Amino acid sequence: MVTSIVRVESLASSGIQAIPEEYIRPQEELTSIGGGNVFEEEKKKEGPQVPTIDLMEIDSEDKLVREECREQLKRAAMEWGVMHLVNHGISDDVIDRVKKAGQAFFNLPVEEKEKYANDQASGNVEGYGSKLANNASGQLEWQDYFFHLAYPLDKTDMSIWPKSPTDYAEATSEYTRQLRDLVTKILSVLSLGLGLEEGRLEKEVGGVEELLFKMKINYYPKCPQPELALGVEAHTDVCALTFILHNMVPGLQLFYQGKWVTAKCVPNSIIMQVGDTIEILSNGKYRSILHRGLVNKERVRISWAVFCEPPEEKTLLKPLPETVSETEPPLFPPRTFRQHIQHKIFNKKITQDQEDALLFSTKQG
Ligand SMILES: [Fe+2]
Repeated sequence: MVTSIVRVESLASSGIQAIPEEYIRPQEELTSIGGGNVFEEEKKKEGPQVPTIDLMEIDSEDKLVREECREQLKRAAMEWGVMHLVNHGISDDVIDRVKKAGQAFFNLPVEEKEKYANDQASGNVEGYGSKLANNASGQLEWQDYFFHLAYPLDKTDMSIWPKSPTDYAEATSEYTRQLRDLVTKILSVLSLGLGLEEGRLEKEVGGVEELLFKMKINYYPKCPQPELALGVEAHTDVCALTFILHNMVPGLQLFYQGKWVTAKCVPNSIIMQVGDTIEILSNGKYRSILHRGLVNKERVRISWAVFCEPPEEKTLLKPLPETVSETEPPLFPPRTFRQHIQHKIFNKKITQDQEDALLFSTKQG
């Protein structure tokens, strides 16, 4: 059953000129996808742009310099909920190795990758996969992926990680170890930004032991009709924070002030997104932004997303008391993280905000 799933890579390399209808987006969504040339979109200079935040001075001994850097990070998390981080402290070498290893894995023949196939029907989502149609329309996304828990190492099953290339495990574990320090720093800035003690958000999301880092390598093959498909449909991330590397091929779009904004490819940056978890804990002060992925017909796009997720049952997501007041009532009902995921994914009950945003986007084009 597992092997009967059609890999998008196989479909793309079969030479088809027209994509199967399961991949064609609904009419109202096609308007906002536009002409399907993401390279032109990425070059556009007008309109709002995803902010670039330089973290060089995040720990500066000069208080004013340090505060200025932290203020910019906080502002970007409040206004956009997404940013390009530069001078983030993660070594170029390890990032390069992570990208090379992921690329080399996806360069393997599909038959080799199938040996790592996950089995979503039985709840086993780790491994090599493609989206399964989970609604009546059978809607699919133009993407294959590799997904696995990456940190903490004592909770991960490294036997299911790619064995080829041989550097995969070492590169990935070193990357997530370095990312761990960055996450602590960022959560402390976001805590202080809400007037909380600096360790508060970290503690709320499970701390160093229980905040899980999940790696998802997204592989978007060339698409013969990019104007009709999406690599990832519009959604917000459920986790606390997401960190994204990519192979410098554009595709990510953010829904900002009623329009889809295409993220630029910023050299040596990591894209960071605020997820629902931090949005809810902060009572909406930090923003979990709606985003999606376009595909193109010229170049394969690969992205490496690390989702930082709180423990599913232990974490009760609700606005922290300090973020609530008479004039700022709680915007979100209390739910465990697991209930939040179920609410979003299984019940498909997207929040009124997102529903409005989607309607608005299709009206605006
Ligand atoms: Fe996402």
